[in-house]
Amino acid sequence: MESSGYGLLKDKTGIIFGALNEASIAWSIAEAAYREGARFALSNAPVARRLGSLDILAEKTESPIFWADASSDEELEAAFSQVKEEFGQIDFIVHSIGMGINVRKKRPYDDLNYDWYHKTLDISAVSLHRIVHHAVETGALADGASVLALSYIGAQRVFSEYSEMGDAKALLESIVRALGYRLGKRRIRINSISQSPTRTVAGSGISGFDAMFEFADRIAPLGNADAESCADYAVVLLSDFTRMVTMQNLFHDGGFSTMGISDRIVEDMNDVLGTGTDE
Ligand code: NAI
Repeated sequence: MESSGYGLLKDKTGIIFGALNEASIAWSIAEAAYREGARFALSNAPVARRLGSLDILAEKTESPIFWADASSDEELEAAFSQVKEEFGQIDFIVHSIGMGINVRKKRPYDDLNYDWYHKTLDISAVSLHRIVHHAVETGALADGASVLALSYIGAQRVFSEYSEMGDAKALLESIVRALGYRLGKRRIRINSISQSPTRTVAGSGISGFDAMFEFADRIAPLGNADAESCADYAVVLLSDFTRMVTMQNLFHDGGFSTMGISDRIVEDMNDVLGTGTDE
C-alpha cells in the first residue's frame, strides 16, 4: 500500500473501538483510517488503560480517547455525547471488541460457567447493539454512516477450541443483519468482516490458536490475511465506494472459507500418517 493513502476517508469522522496494542486489528484500522484522511476518536474499556498502549496510537493519529466499557449503557452514552461534542455527527463506527471469559479461564464448552458465558456474549456481541443504540440515541451518528464489526468463521462452522466465541460471533452477525434492516431507512449500513486467525491478544487467548492459524494458512490459497490487509479492507467498507453494501458478513481470509482441502494439507497428512506413497 502507498503510505500516503488514497484519501478514501477524507472529511469523514468516526470512532474506533478495540485498539489495545500494536497487534490489535483496531490499531491497524486506526492507522489506515488516519492514512486515508479520517478524523476519529478511539475507545476501549477503562481497564485497558493499564493493559495496553492506546495513548501512543492516540498521539500518532491525533485522536481523543473516550474510555467506555462496551457492556455499560452509561459509559457508552457518555462516550457518544463526547464524540458528538468533538466531531458533531460521525460517519463511521468500528467495533473490534471480543472477550471469551470461559475460553480465557479454560472452561470447556460442555461445562460452561453461565455467568461468564453471559458476559462473553454481552462484551463480544450485544455490545454492538448497545453501541449502535447509543450512537443513534445521542444523535451522534450521521445519515449514510458505515458501521463495521469484526467476526470469525467460527460463527458458521465448528472450530473445536473456539468454544463460546462461536456463539458470540453467530449472535454478532445476526445483530448485523437485524440492525441493518432498521438502519437502512437512514441509509446507514452495517457489515462484519470475517477475518483470518490473526496474532493478537484476543487471538492468543484461545488454546489451540497456533493450530487454527497454521491450518488456515495451509488451506487458504492466499494464506492468512494479516491485520494490515484487514485494515485496508475495512477502510474501503467505511468509504463511500461501498455505500450500497449492508447486512453482509464479508470473508477476508485469503480464500479459506471456500476451500475444502489443499495439497499442502494432503502432504502434511501424508507425512504424519506415512500414507500417500505408491509402494
Ligand atoms: P485485541 O485483544 O487486540 O482486541 C480486542 C479488544 O476488545 C481489546 O482492545 C479489548 O480491550 C477490547 N475489550 C474487551 N472487553 C471490552 C469491554 N468490556 N469494553 C470495551 N472493550 C473491550 O484482539 P483482536 O484480535 O484485535 O480482536 C478484535 C476483534 O477481531 C474481535 O472482535 C475479535 O473477535 C475479532 N477477530 C479476531 C481474530 C483473531 O484471530 N485475532 C480473527 C477474527 C476476528
